[in-house]
Amino acid sequence: MRRYSRITGTGSYLPPRRLSNEDLAAELAQRGIETSDEWIVGRTGIHARHFAAPDVASSDLALEASKKAIEAAGCTPQDIDLIIVATSTPDMIFPSTACILQDKLGAHGCPAFDVQAVCSGFVYALTVADAMIKTGAASRALVVGAEVFSRILDFSDRTTCVLFGDGAGAVVLQASEQPGILAADLHADGKHVGILCVPGNVSGGNVLGDPLLKMDGQAVFKLAVGVLEKAARATLDKAGLTDADIDWLIPHQANIRIMQSTAKKLKLPMEKVIVTVGEHGNTSAASIPLALDHGVRSGQIQPGQTLLLEGVGGGFTWGAVLLKL
Ligand code: UT7
Repeated sequence: MRRYSRITGTGSYLPPRRLSNEDLAAELAQRGIETSDEWIVGRTGIHARHFAAPDVASSDLALEASKKAIEAAGCTPQDIDLIIVATSTPDMIFPSTACILQDKLGAHGCPAFDVQAVCSGFVYALTVADAMIKTGAASRALVVGAEVFSRILDFSDRTTCVLFGDGAGAVVLQASEQPGILAADLHADGKHVGILCVPGNVSGGNVLGDPLLKMDGQAVFKLAVGVLEKAARATLDKAGLTDADIDWLIPHQANIRIMQSTAKKLKLPMEKVIVTVGEHGNTSAASIPLALDHGVRSGQIQPGQTLLLEGVGGGFTWGAVLLKL
């Protein structure tokens, strides 16, 4: 009998502090930075984002999302035998946020590690967990995307600081005789490192370089639109399915215009796209599991439906996972 992996529970968490575009514009105005709700909505579809309190770390957001996913899966933290956290805003340089989350969950002993693929992190982490389940290395994985991007934003750069938010999403991925994850397609091209990066580090107790986010928005936009279609098609081909088999597209939530363009290329009406960027902003690795959980809990996504998850971001990284819920 073939061994597959299936999502059996989803969860998500947004920190309570919600900033509308007007709230953010008012805060930026105090720094002499000019922006507007009209510009942000028109260029991105973002109306609001959530920012974590200063003492709240990615592992805290991950914990809340994980508890909900574990409860939805009908299991306990002790049943989890693999933890993967996708994040670019870890609590510490080391240990991994996955180890910190493991301790907060009270689930000790199972392997736990972080995946760093920026906004593609969740599809990377899900693919790794799926592979480990298929080989028998794990049976019930907790796969999380968690970010506090507010910590790495340059609030003097209006071209980036209005785009991102904080949050976490999680799934329990379990061994099953029924698929589950049907196919995945991951890529990276390091020649584009410079178009989206946080070019800083620490050395000898000092910050080297610049520890704030830098993005060439137009370069990212152009690359994203092209690679998302290719990854979608490659994943469908691997599974022997077509555009018409997709019930829901759950893209990385960076910009409504990128999502519209991808949907158009896949001949999907926007009614088949889960859109949360308006209320969440871009939460990097957290954005796909946040959108997935929103779709499940709102009743839009139903068991048995076919979902295409797609991520794209810094690295440059991109990829897609096709699955049956
Ligand atoms: O998670 C990884 C994936 N990331 C993405 O997918 C981001 C992809 N890129 C984008 O979404 C878009 O490129 C942005 C939303 C970042 C920018 O949109 P754009 O249409 O490429 O705008 P632009 O950078 O060409 O800027 C247009 C104008 C400029 O003014 P001038 O030079 O035309 O006078 C900017 O200075 O808009 C100005 N501008 C702003 N104005 C008000 C830039 N940011 C702002 C702002 N408020 N926040």
